Amino acid sequence: MRTIRANWYEYPHLYDIAFGWDPGVEVDFVLEAAARFAAGPVRTCYEPFCGTGRIAIELARRGLAVEAIDLVPAAVDFARDRAARVGVSVRWEVGDAGAWRPVGRIDVLPILIDSFRHASAPGAAEAAVGQFARAVRPGGLLILGLDVGDRPPEVTDEESWVMERDGVTIETAVFDTREPGPAAGTTIVRAVLAVTGDGSPYTLVTDDVMRTYTRASLLDLVTGGGQFETCGVFDRRYDLDKPVHPNSRQADVVCVFRRTSK
Ligand SMILES: C[S@@+](CC[C@H](N)C(=O)[O-])C[C@H]1O[C@@H](n2cnc3c(N)ncnc32)[C@H](O)[C@@H]1O
Repeated sequence: MRTIRANWYEYPHLYDIAFGWDPGVEVDFVLEAAARFAAGPVRTCYEPFCGTGRIAIELARRGLAVEAIDLVPAAVDFARDRAARVGVSVRWEVGDAGAWRPVGRIDVLPILIDSFRHASAPGAAEAAVGQFARAVRPGGLLILGLDVGDRPPEVTDEESWVMERDGVTIETAVFDTREPGPAAGTTIVRAVLAVTGDGSPYTLVTDDVMRTYTRASLLDLVTGGGQFETCGVFDRRYDLDKPVHPNSRQADVVCVFRRTSK
């Protein structure tokens, strides 16, 4: 079988099938967190690391004014086309989320499914949190869903699943290779997509450099400067009534932070 080694985000038609589950649960969580934890009304949203626009488009469909950015032009083109097809308006940008400042004051800034770990160059995550603090208004929320790597060593960190759309089937496996990345505190995470139904079967393999976190180091990064405070830590059940226990080894967390007035 043919193997392509490339950046999977440059293949948005594949990415969008692999991550093609209904974003409703994630978007419900964002809106419920906003209703519970944000001060004042929530009308504006900024989604950095937006990929093919799963979350941004659904939030726009629910009535928010949304701006979204991704580093990969092909992903943004795909998202723009889809938004036009479903008839919603999103302000799309191509660029580095660590340097970008959205237009206006933002009520809610979600970054889900591990995307923030891509800010892996030295100082990149710190710079991004600084940008988010400039973007989000006091009382607004930053919602970060990511793998904090706190799972016990005997538990595998491979995630795999199968998705199908229009005759194309993609079996996705994502796992930490445990090889260190180029900068301290980073690791190489491999994504393997086995694709059938898109011509002859092939495999797309991507190695991403991702920053590693523990839950404590993540909370410290975001709240250490005093511009965000923690409202709660949840898991991928996306249930606000089921916060993660402080001593839990749950690795896939979704953290809700509120912008302070500092
Ligand atoms: C897991 S995917 C996107 C997921 C998207 N948030 C979702 O929920 O479907 C991560 C995305 O981050 C983008 N990305 C990586 N580094 C970035 C950066 N510095 N600035 C903006 N986007 C970036 C990649 O191109 C990719 O589309």
